[in-house]
Amino acid sequence: MKNLSFEIIGDILIIRDSASERTVLDFAELKMNTYPYIKSVFLQTSKTEGQKRTRNLEFILGKRNLETIHKEHGNIYRLNPLHTFFSPRLSFERQRIANLVKKGERIINFFSGVGTFSLAIATKQVECITHSVEINEIAFKYLCQNILLNKCQDRVFPYCGDAFEIVPRILKIKVNRVLLPLPLEADKSLPVACNALDGGNGHIHWQITEHLQSKIIPFNEIDKRIRTIFSDSDMEVNFHISTTRIIRWIAPRIAHIAIDLNIIDSE
Ligand SMILES: C[S@@+](CC[C@H](N)C(=O)[O-])C[C@H]1O[C@@H](n2cnc3c(N)ncnc32)[C@H](O)[C@@H]1O
Repeated sequence: MKNLSFEIIGDILIIRDSASERTVLDFAELKMNTYPYIKSVFLQTSKTEGQKRTRNLEFILGKRNLETIHKEHGNIYRLNPLHTFFSPRLSFERQRIANLVKKGERIINFFSGVGTFSLAIATKQVECITHSVEINEIAFKYLCQNILLNKCQDRVFPYCGDAFEIVPRILKIKVNRVLLPLPLEADKSLPVACNALDGGNGHIHWQITEHLQSKIIPFNEIDKRIRTIFSDSDMEVNFHISTTRIIRWIAPRIAHIAIDLNIIDSE
C-alpha cells in the first residue's frame, strides 16, 4: 500500500498527497480501520491559500461532517478545517511560545485563527491578557466559542476584523508581546507590531517563509531583511534576534520559520 502524507484534526483525517482514486480510498479505509476514532476522511485538493489561509477538501469516506474538536496539551479547539486555518504541526510552536510568557504580560495576537496560540498561552499563564484579532468571520466565531470552551473569557479578548486597522486605530493599547503568525503579511506587520509595544520595548514572535537549501537558517539575511523593513518604514528600531527555528517544511526547500525578536527602545 502506498504511504500518503496525512494529518489528523480531531476525528477527521486529511490526506495531503494526491494519488489515484483507488489508492486514496484504500488508504482511507486502512486508516479508519486502524484508528477507530477517525470518523471522516477528506482529501486536500488545493494548497492553503488566500488571506484566510484555507484549502479545498474533497469528501472520501465516513461521515460528511467537517466540524470537529481537536484536543492538544489540555486545550480544546472547535473548528472546521475547510473554512478555518488549523495545523496540528504547529503544536510544538504554540507550547514554545506559551512557555515564554510571564505573569502579568499584555499580548496582542494579530492573526488568531480559531484561538490556538492565544488559548495555549492563556491556559499556561493564567495571569496575562491576550487581545486576539481575526479577519475570517467563521474563524472568529470559533475563536469566541473556544475562549468559552477553554474557560479563558477573563483573559482572552476577541476582535473581528483587519489587524492592520484594529491594532493601531481601534485597540490603540500598548503591550509587551506581539504574535505575528502569518508569513504572508510578515513584512507589513512588523512595523505595526513594533508601534504597539509599550515604551518601544518587548518581544515579537515573527513568522516568515524562506527558500532554504539546507536546515541552516540564514541569520545574516534575515537580520538584513528586518533592517530593510524598518528603514523602509522610516523607523529606527534596536532589535536582537533571540531565537530562530524551523517550524515545519511547507514544500520542498520552503521552510516556515519562527523568529523571536527582542525590541529595545532606542531613546
Ligand atoms: C496562518 S493563519 C494562523 C492562525 C492561528 N494563529 C494558528 O496558528 O492556528 C492566519 C490567520 O490570520 C487571519 N488573517 C489574515 N489576515 C488578517 C488580518 N489582516 N487581520 C486579522 N486576521 C487576519 C486569517 O484569516 C487566518 O485565520
